[in-house]
Amino acid sequence: MSWVTIDQEKCNDCGLCVLRCAGCFSKENETIVANADIECCNLCGHCISLCPTGAIVHSKMDMENFIHVDKAVGMDTDTFIQFIRKRRSHRHFKDKEISRELIEKLIDTCRYAPTGGNLQGVEIMVIENREKINELSSLTVDFFNIIGTSAEEQLAQLPSEEKTSKKGFLLQRTARYKERLTRARETGYDSIFHHAPVVMVFHSHLETASAKDDCVIASTTIGLTAMTMGLGTTYIGLFDAAAKNHPPVNEALNLPPGHGVFSVLIMGYPKLKYQRTVDRKPIKTTWV
Ligand SMILES: Cc1cc2nc3c(=O)[nH]c(=O)nc-3n(C[C@H](O)[C@H](O)[C@H](O)COP(=O)(O)O)c2cc1C
Repeated sequence: MSWVTIDQEKCNDCGLCVLRCAGCFSKENETIVANADIECCNLCGHCISLCPTGAIVHSKMDMENFIHVDKAVGMDTDTFIQFIRKRRSHRHFKDKEISRELIEKLIDTCRYAPTGGNLQGVEIMVIENREKINELSSLTVDFFNIIGTSAEEQLAQLPSEEKTSKKGFLLQRTARYKERLTRARETGYDSIFHHAPVVMVFHSHLETASAKDDCVIASTTIGLTAMTMGLGTTYIGLFDAAAKNHPPVNEALNLPPGHGVFSVLIMGYPKLKYQRTVDRKPIKTTWV
């Protein structure tokens, strides 16, 4: 039984569906037929989106959610580039809650971000509870304490000529993290989540091949959309690293079985307003 049906009254035989997806559509005796099932259809919806006459109906998708593309909606390139350059990581937030309505709107928007094989396996944990945020922050500092101590021990054993090697550099960086994060915790500063009102943890099943890419694309989509709402975000790789390597973090998070953390954002209303864009190195490019 095909997941897709074609209303032959509406079909104008343009063949766009066959061109886009020869696996699910074919032309038989001058008529286009659909044979879409789990073997060929990954629910991308392109056939419905392309069909000029609205002849295609998919039984596994919400047909009400295929909205006509408004050709007038767009942004000129320079405006878009300014928007991208305006993005900053924010670590100082106003003491102001983000409404549930806005967070839900952001989450709904990132449904439309791409995922490998259209698997759509990204899940989001929104953490607003202050005690939980503090607990996760402290567990992350614990983790950096453990690896920082180990780095200090390894550095002490490292021959002086190796101190400037890549290994030496990484060990020194880890030792510095320990020092910086521990000192901040002692003074009551949350140097992991920066006292943000919201922490978003993007997680997915560990066996999903594109889990990291899917979660990072989802978090980037949310981060950019959040800017249009006057919100600021920052990726928190420190927590990502702790979640991957320090079991107490995962226990405190209590993700669904088999899931791992692949991207983390903090979010809030920024206290600081940046007046200028910033300089960045040119991208090293090779042309082949
Ligand atoms: C993968 C990734 C992980 C990051 N992890 C952290 C983090 O743990 N803590 C933090 O304060 N900033 C973190 N950042 C923010 C970077 O420090 C920031 O993007 C960089 O300094 C450039 O500043 P900008 O985002 O304002 O352009 C991370 C950024 C990325 C892309």
